[in-house]
Amino acid sequence: MKKCLVAVVAALCAGGASAQEGTLNVICSVQAEWCNMIQTVYARTTGVKVNMSLKGSGEALAQLIAEKANPKTDIWFGGTGDPHLQAAEQDLSLEYKSPSLPQLHGWAQQQAAQSKYKTVGIYSGPLGFGYNPELLAKKKLAVPKTWADLLKPDYKNEIQVANPASSGTAYTMVATLVQLMGEDKAFDYMKGLHKNIQTYTRSGTGPIKAVARGETSLSISFVHDGPGEKMQGFPVETITPTEGTGAEIGSMSIIKGARNLEAAKKFYEWALSPAAQEMGAAAKQFQLPSNKSAKVDPRVPDFKKIKFIDYDYAKYGASAERRRLIAKWEKEVNSLPR
Ligand code: G6P
Repeated sequence: MKKCLVAVVAALCAGGASAQEGTLNVICSVQAEWCNMIQTVYARTTGVKVNMSLKGSGEALAQLIAEKANPKTDIWFGGTGDPHLQAAEQDLSLEYKSPSLPQLHGWAQQQAAQSKYKTVGIYSGPLGFGYNPELLAKKKLAVPKTWADLLKPDYKNEIQVANPASSGTAYTMVATLVQLMGEDKAFDYMKGLHKNIQTYTRSGTGPIKAVARGETSLSISFVHDGPGEKMQGFPVETITPTEGTGAEIGSMSIIKGARNLEAAKKFYEWALSPAAQEMGAAAKQFQLPSNKSAKVDPRVPDFKKIKFIDYDYAKYGASAERRRLIAKWEKEVNSLPR
């Protein structure tokens, strides 16, 4: 990790970053390793002090709504795209058309256009299952291959997923199931799944970390969160369901009323550059970068091998829809006994 950090700093310095002062307040919704690396590298290469607050996607949105009258945040970096779209719709984020847009993949540009340029895609990653092969073998349980498999009584108390109110990962699951099955069937499915859930965690990455550490056998997670755990020596594998699955468009937004607007725009441009995006893999995070020129680490999931639904980002990122589905999940699923 240290070696990577040194290499990244050197590359960015060679890229001509000049010494400058200033402060930037960032809400960071990716994993801590990546947030910390950005904070260190950006501060070292630009002289800007980065105040970093780590929050799940749903929690980040809740904070931005709470501080709307008096924003304390300049940039919201990462986290699933749906709440970023909701922030755009609620006028919490600022329209900014980056000159780097043409360098990005179509899905990242579409995320920007859809939000009237109030957010932009910085990475993408597929939803699937995490599993602990050692624990499954010990319990004589098969690896689940489909969404339907997760309902089997054998998996009672064996599955963790996050709570969709706080976690964008879990909201992506709710929206994926609704699109895959239709709303009524998806809620019946989630009620059935509820019986097998050991814990609903606050953060989206909690479940796969629990799987890796042998605290539970299965998780519903972004599959790009698997390799980083495996690199630490934990027994964890991932799989995507054969019926089809959704993907997130991890996003970034400048906050409307940002106190450090110029610094925020500079950070935004930097975060869209190939060198900054390659830092994800250096921090053991394996999402697909949105800049077409960023190197793709071999551990990034191969999108061509995965069956995807045609995820309607505009519909499921709309405030009313997201609020409605989360409230319905609380009322009809989470309130049921297990
Ligand atoms: C992890 C993943 C990201 C994702 C984020 C969402 O950090 O690596 O790709 O955007 O979780 O977090 P949340 O807690 O909102 O589910």
